[in-house]
Amino acid sequence: MNIDNTKHLQLDRESRGTRYYRNAVERHWDPLDIDLDEDREAVTDFLRDVDQQETYFDGMRMGIARFGAGEQAVTEDLAPLATALDDIDDQMFITTQIYEEAKHTDHFDRYWREVINPVEEELGLERSSPTDDKWFNDAYDDLFKRNEAAMHRLLDDPSPETFARAYCHYHLVIEGILAQTGYYGMQQSYSKSDYPELPHLPGLYEGFTKIRQDEGRHVGFGMAKLKELVTEEGVDPSILDETVNELLPLVNAIAANPDDQFTEDVGPQPAELQAFASEKHLDRMEQIKDAAEEVPDLDSLTELEGVGD
Ligand SMILES: [Fe+2]
Ligand SMILES: [Fe+2]
Repeated sequence: MNIDNTKHLQLDRESRGTRYYRNAVERHWDPLDIDLDEDREAVTDFLRDVDQQETYFDGMRMGIARFGAGEQAVTEDLAPLATALDDIDDQMFITTQIYEEAKHTDHFDRYWREVINPVEEELGLERSSPTDDKWFNDAYDDLFKRNEAAMHRLLDDPSPETFARAYCHYHLVIEGILAQTGYYGMQQSYSKSDYPELPHLPGLYEGFTKIRQDEGRHVGFGMAKLKELVTEEGVDPSILDETVNELLPLVNAIAANPDDQFTEDVGPQPAELQAFASEKHLDRMEQIKDAAEEVPDLDSLTELEGVGD
């Protein structure tokens, strides 16, 4: 327990932590409210008619399996940060982030149960599992193992540099670059207008939209913390560059890998995804290092970035 008697009241309502916590409470959503019936029908109809049925289905299943496993990993690996932070306003925010990562895991688990498996049954295909090794590659395993280690290090050595490395792994690279690139690819693929040759999946799209709003707060919190560590705690910005540059090849091998491109010329191509990831990387580093550049406000953090519907 850490009751601070220099504080007149418990929370600082102006602090980033408590403001983001309140924003999370006000924007609460339930994954089970998302209607998946239309998705089930659209995927079944699409696969029934298309040539290369397994190829298309594998592309979709790989994306969903990777998101599901990624959300599970970040749900499991955030707790050390809640322990290492000692400010109640920051901790208020982290409680919402753990809860939201759990909801994201819930959404993808449900998508497999209520869309993927029933479609397989309807079409007489073998029943697949989102935990099957075939959806993942070495870069994926490596990135999430490194994230787990970076977060757990906070328990033994909560120095500013350890915090900086943890935020770089979790908030900057996994949430701020990898996941953003993945949402972009998936939402482009299964929105109404971008690729009419692919099915429109409104439930998947709605889930991504809600998740991205939550992620706007998560990334915003991590970015602001990194900026504070550099400007107020004396963390050398080269630690950020080194950490991120070490991880970027893994991001590209996960989110923009030509080996995972199941169908040529359908959906966003690896070069486009790689360019998107680089752009996100540059934006993030600029926001952290440029003293004049403010970390974007909550509304712009949670708003969507140019994805059609
Ligand atoms: Fe998430
Ligand atoms: Fe997140």
